[in-house]
Amino acid sequence: MFGAVAAVGGSVVGLGNIWRFPYVAGENGGAAFILVYLCVSFLIAVPIMLSEFSIGRSTRRNPYRAFKKLAPGTAWPAIGYMGVFTAFVILSFYSVVAGWALEFLRSSVMGEFAGMGAADIRANFDSFVAGGTMPVIWTLIFVFMTAFIVLSGVEKGIERYTKILMPAMAVLLLGMAINSSMLPGGMEGISFLFRPDFSKISPSVVLQAMGQAFFSLSLGMGAMITYGSYIKKEQNMFKVAGTVALSDLSIAILSGLAIFPAVFAFGVSPTSGPELIFITLPMVFQQMVGGYFISIIFFFLVFVAAITSSISLFEVITAYVSEEMRIPRIKAVAINTPLVMITSVFCALSQMPDSPLLIGGRNLFDIFDNLSSVYLLPIGGLFIVLFAGWVMKPSAFHDELTNRGLYGERMYPAFRVLMRYAIPVVMTTLILFLTGMVL
Ligand code: PHE
Repeated sequence: MFGAVAAVGGSVVGLGNIWRFPYVAGENGGAAFILVYLCVSFLIAVPIMLSEFSIGRSTRRNPYRAFKKLAPGTAWPAIGYMGVFTAFVILSFYSVVAGWALEFLRSSVMGEFAGMGAADIRANFDSFVAGGTMPVIWTLIFVFMTAFIVLSGVEKGIERYTKILMPAMAVLLLGMAINSSMLPGGMEGISFLFRPDFSKISPSVVLQAMGQAFFSLSLGMGAMITYGSYIKKEQNMFKVAGTVALSDLSIAILSGLAIFPAVFAFGVSPTSGPELIFITLPMVFQQMVGGYFISIIFFFLVFVAAITSSISLFEVITAYVSEEMRIPRIKAVAINTPLVMITSVFCALSQMPDSPLLIGGRNLFDIFDNLSSVYLLPIGGLFIVLFAGWVMKPSAFHDELTNRGLYGERMYPAFRVLMRYAIPVVMTTLILFLTGMVL
């Protein structure tokens, strides 16, 4: 089972946990958001993960082909197209943030943060982004590395390291969390994370929490259909999904614990947005014993977490282009890489001041980030759960999910109601009523 968890974990644990979770939690009220996040993760996201696993394991095909095999001659395979589009959108801004991690890794090695105050660190980040050139170079390097790994097929080799590096990340974050909570004023950050102000729960908070759960668990675009096909026939999928979801949640919470006490201690605004961890952590490392080395290890691990996730996104578009256009993988990569490079460079450049890459006053980076998590992934996930609940042959779904009644048989009827009625109704209501509210 560890093999499957490690493979899925590589995709699931990434910038979504370390970068996106803290900034979205910060913008949406902290503890109240986390509470909603917990509910949607286990009541909506995990059942959808199990649906994706079942579709993947029963067909052992790329997402598009999987739907085609299970529902030939229908429009359902279009979910596969949507997943491919979503993967492009995510890769575009994901590569930019991974590029920031590479720049911070470089700065850490050079010891550039030493002696900088909170204001300098912020100014430094702003001028890095505003400069345009360096963010673009790092973004391109990251896309290139992702493409190279997908092409050379060394993903399996990398998985061996994920098994060690992911727990290492958890230990490092735990150390950072302990250190941060001891900062003067740090306790305020802890209560921000754990003392919910229920008045902060609004429909838009729920939608953001749902989007974050889908993003963090790599759901709604077919990546987990692909990974489902790697899960062995005799394995218990409930266990795989549960372990993955708990690991993912732990890394996200630890990352929140490492960041929010410092946010309050150093007077950073919790609603700073996508730069939150980048303007907070250099301050943390400066006052930590061994901070120079810890920051290098940290940004290196962030980079590893990011690339193991971007590989899974890139794999979706590569498998699709190569299998559907009937061309070798190398050609598929040669088509996809420049496309991703172009859109990700646009995302990076859209953050420069006076950039013309704005739509309705928001830059392309923010739009892609929000569009994918809040709309594309949940809509994709809704279709997937509808497919698994209403279109797939009930006996085939049951046998796949429960290993022919071996696991989870007692809760199966409740699970069926959840996936056929509760989840679709709740998600449709949220998506319909709120379309246009968050973007
Ligand atoms: N789950 C990944 C992360 O948290 C991002 C991702 C989303 C990967 C969707 C694949 C598919 O960083």
